[in-house]
Amino acid sequence: MADPFPIRRLDHLELYVGNARQAAAYYRHAFGFRATAYRGLETGCREATSYVLEGGEIRLVLTSGLAPGHAAARFAHAHGDGVAVLALEVPDAFRGFAEACRRGAAAAEEPVEERDEHGALRSAAIRAYGDTVIRFVERGGYRGAFAPGFEARAGNGPPAGAVGLAAVDHVVANVERGQMNRWVRFLAETMGFSELLHFDDEAISTEYSALMSKVMQDGAGRIKFPINEPASGRRKSQVAEYLDYFGGPGVQHVAFATDDIVDTVSRMRARGVEFLSVPAAYYDDLAARVPAVGERIGELARLGILADRDEDGHLLQVFTQPVQDRPTLFYEVIERRGSGGFGQGNFKSLFEALEREQARRGNLVEAVAS
Ligand code: FE2
Repeated sequence: MADPFPIRRLDHLELYVGNARQAAAYYRHAFGFRATAYRGLETGCREATSYVLEGGEIRLVLTSGLAPGHAAARFAHAHGDGVAVLALEVPDAFRGFAEACRRGAAAAEEPVEERDEHGALRSAAIRAYGDTVIRFVERGGYRGAFAPGFEARAGNGPPAGAVGLAAVDHVVANVERGQMNRWVRFLAETMGFSELLHFDDEAISTEYSALMSKVMQDGAGRIKFPINEPASGRRKSQVAEYLDYFGGPGVQHVAFATDDIVDTVSRMRARGVEFLSVPAAYYDDLAARVPAVGERIGELARLGILADRDEDGHLLQVFTQPVQDRPTLFYEVIERRGSGGFGQGNFKSLFEALEREQARRGNLVEAVAS
């Protein structure tokens, strides 16, 4: 049966940030991305500055507004730096937009076709959770660096070389209590996503807090958008802390796939990226839980890498600290060896690690209402 809402790939993630120039320098250095395109005053864009960064199949766009009324400036003021746009490449952006709106989505950006000497590019966007939008991009035969108005940047490789980040594995949202199923239905009804997995608050709980999560994927199974919501607990959950500091729902973390997590994380650590720390006790029984990593326990422990397995294989994963002042957006690095899971066996130790950080910030406080 034909996919009723065909999506070719995750085209890019656009972050709205306070200072795109400095953010671009950070991501190039720490994440080993190369700068491939630019838009700003020098290219005739009067409202905003954008840097396009790429590594493997990953494409990030970092945008800052040049005046307080610009959407990126308003977003950064309200939320701090964060992911504002999930852009999906589709075969027909206008049709996808019309179809999603017909199925109940609200318009965020009206359909537009932009042209330059490299061809035409069509896009349109719908509103998702909070101030996040989902943009449909139709590249057609467009041959320019990124999009009309952008200038190609040559010779802007990562200053210290790439780190091996290859693709976006999944993009996770935090939404308010009671709202997870609303956004699950939104993805299903507007774009034909389906539920791949769900984790209830029993599966994801610590002594102090709990959350629930459903993993949604597109028809082709290439794009995975898990949605989290906080659940009852004795203390404020990490999701609730995020919602407080982000000022509403938004993207909690982006997972980047690598083929060699030990090499990738070694390089990122050497460049100053901070990761969540894992207690030594985590590794005591890891060889029994995940026999495939038995001979590598030492290097995994040295780098704070977690491992999990399911019936299909195993995975290795690690989580950064938040990458901006607010305890909001962070990144995951994941190496899959057959497993299509999300590290359920690590949820408890991961969330306990997050709570230790939350406590250091003074935010692991008693829950106001259960
Ligand atoms: Fe994740």
